[in-house]
Amino acid sequence: MKILVAYLSETGNTEKVAKAIFDSVSADAKELLPLDNVFGLDDYDLIFCGFPVQAHSVPGKAQTFINSIPQGKKVAFFATHGSLRGGERAASAFHQLAGIATDLKILGTFGARGKVKMDLLDALSEKPEHKAWADEARSAVTHPDEADLHDAGEFARDILLKARHG
Ligand SMILES: Cc1cc2nc3c(=O)[nH]c(=O)nc-3n(C[C@H](O)[C@H](O)[C@H](O)COP(=O)(O)O)c2cc1C
Repeated sequence: MKILVAYLSETGNTEKVAKAIFDSVSADAKELLPLDNVFGLDDYDLIFCGFPVQAHSVPGKAQTFINSIPQGKKVAFFATHGSLRGGERAASAFHQLAGIATDLKILGTFGARGKVKMDLLDALSEKPEHKAWADEARSAVTHPDEADLHDAGEFARDILLKARHG
């Protein structure tokens, strides 16, 4: 089994989760690469693809990458986000994935909180339409933490089992 863990990360949160996933999977061959450094996807049996949630959505760069994944490939998605884990706001980007990754075999998704840049929080707190989200996201400041990274590892091992036996 050849595995790729590909990620987009501006401030390092998603990269931490990507590393935890990478360290947790045993494979014949595995690679951990930022999206920009990925060239050619045909050889991989399983692709983990990670991104930071932006504007409650999958960032354009990640969408372009997902669109380039060959049809029928086994994939699993992970994201970091300022919103509360499991909440409605965090779920919206995952819902969007179903429409983007239409021809892929999605084996699962994982989300963890990630601290948000203070200047962004402060700017959005000033805007009535974004204040509720900014208040919610402020408490992500300690994430991703050890528990998040542990859960990411569990997720990765579970996905690997599905990829092998599914
Ligand atoms: C421009 C921008 C928009 C963001 N929008 C959202 C959002 O809509 N919902 C959310 O939960 N987090 C949002 N965030 C927070 C990031 O998803 C979060 O901080 C993430 O962990 C950053 O990951 P990174 O360090 O890998 O870039 C946003 C961050 C930025 C910079």
